Amino acid sequence: MRVGIIGAGQLGQMLGIAAGKLDIECAFLDPSPAPPAAVCGPVVQRPFDDSAALADMAARCDVITYEFENVPVAALSEIEDRVPVRPSTAALHHAQDRLREKQLFTELGIPVPAYRQIDTREDLDTAVAELGLPLIVKTRRLGYDGKGQFVIQTNGDIDRAWHALREQALIAEQWVPFDFEVSAIGVRDTSGEIRIYPLTRNVHKSGILHTSVAPVIAPELADIAAGYLRKLLEHLDYIGVLALELFVLESRLLANEFAPRVHNSGHWTIEGAVTSQFENHLRAVAGLSAGSTDARGHAGMVNLIGAINPAVSALKQGTLHDYGKAPRPGRKLGHITVVSQSAEERDRLLNIIEKTVTQSTPANGSNP
Ligand SMILES: Nc1ncnc2c1ncn2[C@@H]1O[C@H](COP(=O)(O)OP(=O)(O)O)[C@@H](O)[C@H]1O
Ligand SMILES: [Mg+2]
Repeated sequence: MRVGIIGAGQLGQMLGIAAGKLDIECAFLDPSPAPPAAVCGPVVQRPFDDSAALADMAARCDVITYEFENVPVAALSEIEDRVPVRPSTAALHHAQDRLREKQLFTELGIPVPAYRQIDTREDLDTAVAELGLPLIVKTRRLGYDGKGQFVIQTNGDIDRAWHALREQALIAEQWVPFDFEVSAIGVRDTSGEIRIYPLTRNVHKSGILHTSVAPVIAPELADIAAGYLRKLLEHLDYIGVLALELFVLESRLLANEFAPRVHNSGHWTIEGAVTSQFENHLRAVAGLSAGSTDARGHAGMVNLIGAINPAVSALKQGTLHDYGKAPRPGRKLGHITVVSQSAEERDRLLNIIEKTVTQSTPANGSNP
């Protein structure tokens, strides 16, 4: 079995490592030279929408998947009749555009923050008047790690937001004064079986994921989140892992966005779950049954952003994953996971790790 993976970043690398255990070969497509997943299999260094490269992958692979959601749908559609593309391009189509994503959530009865489509400066003024401040303006497409976003705090910010983002199709959302953020991550296999990981709680800094912990001990929230996730997976006839990001506000859940792929907030599953999100994604797209998503304990993950100081490498409290990427401010270079028998012990260890990470990476949090 050979799986073709579009994108060869750290998610591709972790998929490639999981593939080794399953006797699955991986082949990657990525335009960048020496990407992280190159250690796991051959990388064709061509653009993501290169028809010839995609046709070649379709011919050489049993199934095609992707590690990031900005693969051009039109390019993937060209090969869909020759090789299974999992998750389907229908999932990509919705996940690539924040407006379509929100419309899908609403159609499925999944609550979202109040939002407006923004095409003109007048639309933005109307959104401010109707939704109030603060308001967050986001590009509909291609944003990640908080990029392509502008928070309007006062009327004086409206011009600045408009000038910064007006070249692109936009959406404006009510600022949610959330209590905390969670992600619901699950897998659906080709038999339609769905398995859902314990709910994960996430902390972002400057729009970038900083830490995740799981399981969140909140059975009611977990049930609601799992219900929303299930609706999405079933509606999209989805195959693979999907991550749904949600805001928790006074025991209500509001959907923020979903990723049709393995997700940073699920990295803890490598050590902390019976079957990791990477193994489960591969199992599902390869036509195998999904494995148990049960937790092995209380897990926590800290992202390493901008630089990895030797002090972090020397930490004995957790497992270090270094993606082998060149340091750059705001760049995800690795992560550390801890798994403990109690949430208290996990939090104690996480605290030690986090202190070392934040003290030793001055670029952390300074992402523009
Ligand atoms: N409407 C909102 N209200 C409050 N915080 C928000 C809102 N939208 C985004 N954020 C914050 O910014 C982070 C990144 O935004 P998100 O929409 O998830 O974009 P990205 O694609 O960059 O992850 C979120 O995880 C959250 O912390
Ligand atoms: Mg997000």
